[in-house]
Amino acid sequence: MKLLVTGVAGFIGSKLTERLIARGDDVVGLDNFDPFYPRETKERNLTSLRSAIRFVEGDITDRGGLDRLLAAERFDAVIHLAALAGVRPSIREPWRYAHVNVVGTAHLAEAMIARGVSRLVFASSSSVYGDNTLVPYEESQRVDEPASPYATTKRAGELMLDTFAKLHGLSSSCLRFFTVYGPRQRPEMAIHKFARAIERGEPVTLYGDGSSSRDYTYIDDVVDGVLGALDRPPVGARIYNLGGTQPVRLDALVRELGRALDKQPTLVHAPPQPGDVHQTWADVSRARSELGYAPQVPLPEGLRRFASWLRGESEW
Ligand SMILES: NC(=O)c1ccc[n+]([C@@H]2O[C@H](COP(=O)([O-])OP(=O)(O)OC[C@H]3O[C@@H](n4cnc5c(N)ncnc54)[C@H](O)[C@@H]3O)[C@@H](O)[C@H]2O)c1
Repeated sequence: MKLLVTGVAGFIGSKLTERLIARGDDVVGLDNFDPFYPRETKERNLTSLRSAIRFVEGDITDRGGLDRLLAAERFDAVIHLAALAGVRPSIREPWRYAHVNVVGTAHLAEAMIARGVSRLVFASSSSVYGDNTLVPYEESQRVDEPASPYATTKRAGELMLDTFAKLHGLSSSCLRFFTVYGPRQRPEMAIHKFARAIERGEPVTLYGDGSSSRDYTYIDDVVDGVLGALDRPPVGARIYNLGGTQPVRLDALVRELGRALDKQPTLVHAPPQPGDVHQTWADVSRARSELGYAPQVPLPEGLRRFASWLRGESEW
């Protein structure tokens, strides 16, 4: 398949694209090297891809650029991962998050419709569930109380694609990723930040009393889910949870990470952060039956692989 992957230089985008290339897809990758984390890290993510894909440095909010790109290539589908990620920074800069994540997604979907590209896979997020207490989260649940501007932009993206499906027949799979981790994980995410602190012998700051929990999902499992969605496009727009299905308390996560790094973490507690939710937990029945999704990597194994990558013992 001829594919456009936006956000190709990021954590998930680069890992996904390596798998697309390995299975013989033809990929054009778009990324603007947003400075949320260093360009050098993203360049490094692209190392093995540079000769395998056509890379375009560009911005999803640049409609002219998108139109030219979609006119020059005949894409079968678009995998849209480019976004400003991260809950806490979105509270400081809601406008920028809305601009990139909502306006950028609208530009991309419009450019696709104008060129007759009818298949889209969109990176949404478990954060859309807000502080819902009904767990595990099912896609049919009401999600109209997101707890951060980031979550609001992801929900807005889902709703817009649902509307575009009805108006223009665009097929969209909106994938709600649940805390993805593994080699190349974004440096500001908890596991990566905690692991660096433990390695340096510095205390790990836990926001809250340690009882909050997350459904952590290993990167290879998420990539499997994205490929499943790409290969089974829905009629209209369809939402899928992609989680690991085994929520873990924050304090237990840090202990497990200590075991993976073979070091004893020291903990410091700080007040819970605005925008953070207490728990996430995915029901993946829909993705299992419709996409063949079946997460394989348990947390201790995933953390061992992450630790080995962090120490430079495995491939970047
Ligand atoms: N990592 C997770 O746990 C997680 C969870 C839920 C949802 N998601 C979503 O999955 C997607 C990928 O996440 P990630 O963790 O790989 O993040 P990432 O930051 O590593 O990757 C996103 C990429 O998008 C690029 N980008 C940002 N703004 C852009 C723009 N205007 N034009 C073009 N490119 C732009 C960035 O430079 C970056 O390389 C994002 O949409 C994110 O919101 C991730």
